[in-house]
Amino acid sequence: MATPHIQAEKGDFARTVLMPGDPLRAKFIAETYLDTPRQVNAVRGMYGYTGTYHGKPVSVMASGMGVPSIGIYSYELFRFYGVENILRIGTAGAIADDLSVGDVVLAMSAATNSNYAAQYRLPGTPAPTADFTLLQTAYQAAVSFRQTVRVGSVFTSDTFYDDADSLRDWQKMGVLAIEMECAALYLNAARLGKRALTICTISDCPFTGESSSAAERQESFRTMMEIGLQTAASL
Ligand code: HPA
Repeated sequence: MATPHIQAEKGDFARTVLMPGDPLRAKFIAETYLDTPRQVNAVRGMYGYTGTYHGKPVSVMASGMGVPSIGIYSYELFRFYGVENILRIGTAGAIADDLSVGDVVLAMSAATNSNYAAQYRLPGTPAPTADFTLLQTAYQAAVSFRQTVRVGSVFTSDTFYDDADSLRDWQKMGVLAIEMECAALYLNAARLGKRALTICTISDCPFTGESSSAAERQESFRTMMEIGLQTAASL
């Protein structure tokens, strides 16, 4: 049984899936951390793998960039492959002044300029929210790694290159960081009765122009991946 975007059989995915944006990062995580990884998807190069981590079945699959892409892949994993938990692991730009490159943000909630929620025809505005168990587990993992970690809102933007300079407005609202996928993931999880969390590492600071070196990026990615994997293994 394949979906339009995933060529895998039912049972090919574990209950918990780690989702980086980048397919090559999915490959890296599978090859570096999983025991007996096998590739379960390669359609459009959106690589997916399943293996075990500390004896627990875990999958890792790329989401691609932006709300429509993660909207499709997370929906299909939740709805057609029996996936219960999706942990997005990605990068974000700092909005809060006291965040620095390499810090980790756990997205408790996601503000957004995306129209994704319009499909539900709600008589109001939904509040895309993380699962508390995943959030608490990831927070404890981050603390155990002595990682600087903040918990709060992110802003899921449809634009990376934005003509308007609206980030200060989101900063006024206490938003910590900007990324491009979280709100869609949380809305899919809510609608389908599943669990989701976004773990971000700060890769750049749009206000200061600071961005991470390749080495810094590699190191902070590793910590974020290990937070995600430890969370997955303890579910
Ligand atoms: N904007 C949107 N997404 C991002 C950014 C950003 O500045 N940095 C990392 N992901």
